[in-house]
Amino acid sequence: MKFDLKATFTFSNDISSIKKEIENFVSNYSKVIIEKDKSVKIENIKIQKNQLSLNVTSAGVFRPHNALLQMKNSMSQEFGKKHKLGVREIVIENYEIQFALEKKPLKKVTIPFADVKSKDKLATISLKNVDEEFLQRNYIDRMISLVKEKVENQYYEGKGEFWKLIWESGAKKPVWTKDPTEEMVKLGWLKQGPTKGKWFYRPQITAIMKTMEKIAVEEVLKPLGFQEIIESNIVPFDVWLKTGHLEGMPGEFYYIAEPATRDAEKWVRFVDLTKITKEVPFDELKKNVSIPNAGICYAQCPVIYWSFKGKTISEKSLPVLVYDNTAISGRYESGGRHGIERVDEFHRIEPVYIGTREQLLKLREKLLDRYKHVFNKIFELEWRMAWVTPWYMTQAGKIGDTSSQDTGTIDFEAYMPYRGDRKKSEWLEFQNLSILGDKYIKAFNIKAQKSELWSGCSGVGLERWTTAFLAQKGLDPNKWPAGFRKYLKELPKGIEFL
Ligand code: SER
Ligand code: ZN
Repeated sequence: MKFDLKATFTFSNDISSIKKEIENFVSNYSKVIIEKDKSVKIENIKIQKNQLSLNVTSAGVFRPHNALLQMKNSMSQEFGKKHKLGVREIVIENYEIQFALEKKPLKKVTIPFADVKSKDKLATISLKNVDEEFLQRNYIDRMISLVKEKVENQYYEGKGEFWKLIWESGAKKPVWTKDPTEEMVKLGWLKQGPTKGKWFYRPQITAIMKTMEKIAVEEVLKPLGFQEIIESNIVPFDVWLKTGHLEGMPGEFYYIAEPATRDAEKWVRFVDLTKITKEVPFDELKKNVSIPNAGICYAQCPVIYWSFKGKTISEKSLPVLVYDNTAISGRYESGGRHGIERVDEFHRIEPVYIGTREQLLKLREKLLDRYKHVFNKIFELEWRMAWVTPWYMTQAGKIGDTSSQDTGTIDFEAYMPYRGDRKKSEWLEFQNLSILGDKYIKAFNIKAQKSELWSGCSGVGLERWTTAFLAQKGLDPNKWPAGFRKYLKELPKGIEFL
């Protein structure tokens, strides 16, 4: 890497009378640095009134921006006592950083705060008027990483998703080939919700979804010792900053805005306008709500990790096995909505597990066993499992594959007969299971007495289980597999409309 910066230190008072002392200080300071990195040069030292400006260049490991703050402190110490002088501010007027890329950019890269240029595998970022806060907050190092990440991503764009088959059930003859949502809407079991991508579930489909929930709890979670917890449905941004969702999914959240005030006086005009116009006075509303600071649950695990933040878990409690069955997930879908299988609002049970690597690898086998029992013996589904790009990468806006046999995401996919040929049509992802290594353990600073911790989660989507089952087995309980009929053999009679 090559660094070239011009910085100015502004002192609290005129320094021209101690010019020599300051020059000596800088030259001693640069000697110390050069001992560590021979490529560093501090030149063009100029002193004028209350300002000291200089150029720092380096071609090694030394990052000049990291030294400026340190230099400021040393100068304040040195001249504070002697001359009652302090450094008021540092400004980097110009800063050029040249660094190597793994691959040549395929197109221009842009990032905030800097101009980016590249030539072959060499990138240069130029910054102007960088202040002290910028330096303290470590923005520069993150900007370099962002350029590298963007170039790397250019090579993945447009490439197919990573997908590797693990297991398949083999073909099963479906009972019918209709789209269950369409048929259920016709029968009045289901009604499109009041806003897009939401549904109103009438008694018949509700009974099926509740059965799915019961099977997941009774056949998978309870036998493995999972304990139920209840989490908040509202996720503050600081949780998503830690999990990476905020940078990965900003266009998919349902944002939550709090009222700016509860003071009834402030709402009078809003109320009056509503009474007179019988419409929502949005312009008035804007004045009384705050900018969003949270969103509706997107996946349940982030808040579960948050609940363990900074905690030391007793060895006795390992592995921690918990699940949430109350938070409803919201995802703003754009084009892809379809039936109850691709929605903006869905119901899911999410088990989360925290334990040692060995404990989690063993648990994965047990979970797979229980899931297989449900899908093979109770639902008699045609389905398969595949390694896919881990969800924590997609949900953090990252592409590529980093899964191994130990960590990564397994997708469970079901054949949807209404979509056509089983070889050519797209199967439905109706569940996933992941082991994530120490990613969230680190992010939320979760510890054990002795053990190194890993974590993972599994998403049991009730709409997905339901629609996968109904797409293959139809809506007539008499034609359902015996295992499922043990749980539900008759539907509620529902409500008739004229
Ligand atoms: N967190 C996982 C996901 O979002 C499981 O729910 O897919
Ligand atoms: Zn999760």
